[in-house]
Amino acid sequence: MNNNISVVGLSWGDEGKGKFVDYLAQKADIVVRFNGGNNAGHTINANGIKYKFKLMPSGAPLEKECVIANGCVIDPKVLLEEIENLKKLKKKINLKLSSTAHVIFPFHRILDGLEEETKGKFRAGTTKRGIGPTYSDKAARWGIRVYDLINPEILKPKLELLFKIKKDLIQIYDPNWDVEIETIFEEYKSYGEKIKPYVIDTAYYLNHLVDSGKKIVFEAAQGSLLCIDHGFYPFGTSSNANALGISAGTGIPPKKIGKILGIIKAYTSRVGEGKLPTELFNKTSETIREQGHEYGTVTGRPRRVGWLDLFNIKYGIMLNGIENVVITLLDALEGISPIKICTGYELDGKSLDSWPIQHEIIEECKPVYKIFDGWDKRTREEWLEIAEKGYDAIPEAMKVYIQSIKEELKTKLFALSIGPDRKETILMDDKLF
Ligand code: GDP
Ligand code: IMO
Ligand code: MG
Repeated sequence: MNNNISVVGLSWGDEGKGKFVDYLAQKADIVVRFNGGNNAGHTINANGIKYKFKLMPSGAPLEKECVIANGCVIDPKVLLEEIENLKKLKKKINLKLSSTAHVIFPFHRILDGLEEETKGKFRAGTTKRGIGPTYSDKAARWGIRVYDLINPEILKPKLELLFKIKKDLIQIYDPNWDVEIETIFEEYKSYGEKIKPYVIDTAYYLNHLVDSGKKIVFEAAQGSLLCIDHGFYPFGTSSNANALGISAGTGIPPKKIGKILGIIKAYTSRVGEGKLPTELFNKTSETIREQGHEYGTVTGRPRRVGWLDLFNIKYGIMLNGIENVVITLLDALEGISPIKICTGYELDGKSLDSWPIQHEIIEECKPVYKIFDGWDKRTREEWLEIAEKGYDAIPEAMKVYIQSIKEELKTKLFALSIGPDRKETILMDDKLF
């Protein structure tokens, strides 16, 4: 038994992980990011302030200790901006950054864009933040780590090698491309000086914290279906965007990870490319997009929306070992009736036993739906009032919708979310954490 809990998204990201990491952080000591980089956009609304974090763990508004562990990729400019923004809000910065996290350089961002163009219909519609190229370099073992960044004499020869390789590659696409390596070196040397005070070996540090009984919240970026190994490949991201990534991404052994909480949105959203089996292309999708403010936190792109897909969520439940879920954005379905939930797929008239994983097969599948009555619109004040009163006060039709999700998934409910604010939360189980 230990004191940790992990927050993972069970779909294609943007499920409301940031809101629940902040919610759980109220009772925790430390919040740890273990995967991804500034492709993530995690939103928190609390005490009248809206925070949007790309790299900073969502424990920052509560001034909790925040750790960015080795599984992440770091754009130092973005991290320094986030630190500055928090300082402007008079927040105490309590950050530890892993010396072995990999660093994103400008040529990674350029290659991200060029690779996407080359991929054509196989492109994922990336955030163009250099995430894929940086993880590729990590795997190829010529990547540059935070430790190198803070030691200019180590950085120099490694950057010379990497720059030569990347320049040759970029010039295949664009023969006129040229940048002075000295400019990049000087810029990154100065980032190194600024982030140095935060850098430690986080694996030792985190293991010590776990063993001393501290309460840790692990914060996943992206979602289970975007995972590099078990997601909707190649239309996902480049890290293990689920609980399977926590050990590798932090150095904490699997047996010490603790409970895993799955976050589900009341419908499905997806930003980027790749089939979304329950996607809606009608007026209802516009209504959901507006009511749920479904625009990318990082890129501002309109998110594609569709009905809740419990068939692929069940796959995420298996991979993450989920026993408890949170359902978010229930208020965003207000005024829409009927509402549908996908409970399975059919292929050539036969229902499938398991989520098919291969995108070529998924593209041919037809979702099978259960139909539910919707609930009426309410004002923000009314939703807040419902949250304060608790479960009994939610609309009856919403209760039916929630109970069917619970039964279909065979999980327990940790909480319901009926608004973006920390307070617009209905806690269903105060024993879990
Ligand atoms: P994350 O990437 O999983 O952290 O999610 P994002 O922050 O990218 O996207 C979730 C969006 O929904 C954010 O704008 C949140 O403020 C908002 N949000 C979270 N929960 C709720 C909810 O229950 N209702 C409404 N209306 N908005 C919510
Ligand atoms: P959070 O943590 C939603 C998507 C991109 C693209 C694919 C690959 O806020 O839930 P990348 O830039 O990672 O190489 O893009 O993954 N993607 C996300 N979609 N939420 C995210 O993060 C995402 N991070 C990446 O749109 O399809
Ligand atoms: Mg997001």
